[in-house]
Amino acid sequence: MTPIETPNIFAPVSTPAFAIRDLSFVVLAITAAIFVIVAGFAVYTLIRFGRRPANPEVEPAQVYGSTQIELAWAVVPLLIVVVLFLVTARYVWGIERRPQPPDALEITVVGNQWWWEVRYPKLGIVTANEIHVPVSDEASPALTFITIRSVDVAHSFWVPQLAGKMDAIPNKTNRVWIEPRRVGTFVGQCAEYCGLQHALMLLVVVVHPKDEFRAWIAAQQTTPAEVATARAGRELFSSLACINCHNVRATPGNGVFGPDLTHLMSRSTLGAGAVRNTPENLRAWVKDPGALKAGALMPAMKLDDAQLDQLVAYLVTLR
Ligand code: CUA
Repeated sequence: MTPIETPNIFAPVSTPAFAIRDLSFVVLAITAAIFVIVAGFAVYTLIRFGRRPANPEVEPAQVYGSTQIELAWAVVPLLIVVVLFLVTARYVWGIERRPQPPDALEITVVGNQWWWEVRYPKLGIVTANEIHVPVSDEASPALTFITIRSVDVAHSFWVPQLAGKMDAIPNKTNRVWIEPRRVGTFVGQCAEYCGLQHALMLLVVVVHPKDEFRAWIAAQQTTPAEVATARAGRELFSSLACINCHNVRATPGNGVFGPDLTHLMSRSTLGAGAVRNTPENLRAWVKDPGALKAGALMPAMKLDDAQLDQLVAYLVTLR
C-alpha cells in the first residue's frame, strides 16, 4: 500500500473531485470579490468619516428611503445567488448524469454502525473499510460506480480527493462514481453523525495500477488455505457465536452482521481504523472490542487466554 495521503479537496485525483474543486474556485472568486467590495466600502467609510470631531449642536443630513439604493441591494444579491445556483447546478448535473459504461467496476458500500461493508457483487468479493480500485488512464479509462446503502442509520460516504459526499440512507440507494487518475491511497471518513463511534468509521481507497488490481481480485477470490497448526482455533471459531455475525468462506461462519473475515489479514486496521491490524491488537480486540472502540457492537466473548491464543492463531491465517 502506498503511503496514505492527507485528505484535501484542493488536491483532487478523480474526475468528479476535479469538477468540485473547479466549482469551489468559482464560488470562492465570487465571494472573495463581494468581500473585497464590502470590506473596501467599510474601510473607506471608517477612514473618510471616522475622525470628524463630534458636534452635538449640528445634526447630520437625514435621509429617508431611496428606491434606487433599495433596489440595488435587493437585485444585485439576487443576481449573485442565481449565478451561484446555475453554476452549481451545472456542475452537479454534469457529475450526476454521467452514464455508467458497461465495463465500469461496480462496488456496493454499506454503512454499518460503525464500519463499512464493501462488496464487489460481480466478482464475489466481500471486504470491509478498505476499497481497492484500478487507476484510470487516457488509453483505457477505468471508472468505478459505487452504490451506497445503509443497514441502520444515516451515514455519509466521503473520500474528498475522489468524489463529493454522498449520504448512506436506510432503505434508499445512492450512487457515486470515481475515476482516479493516479495511483495512491486516499482516506475518507463517515461524514454524517451516526452515533457513538461516528469518528471511527474510517474509509481507505487504494488505487492500484491495473495489473496490481487484477492480482488483488485474484487473491481476494481465493479461499484461504487451511493451516494445520490453526486447526484448534478454526474449530473453536466454528463452535462459538463468531459464526453468527461473521462470514469466512468454506467454514460454518456465514453471518453478515459483522465484517467478512475471509481475508481479514489483508486489511490494515481493525474496527474501521480503531487500531492497526496486528496479532497483538487482534487478540486485544477479540478479548474485549469495547476496550479499543467504546460501544463497538461486537461483544466480548469472555474467552480465556488459551482460547484467545488459539483463535488468534487461526485468524492470522486468513490472509
Ligand atoms: Cu457513520 Cu457517521
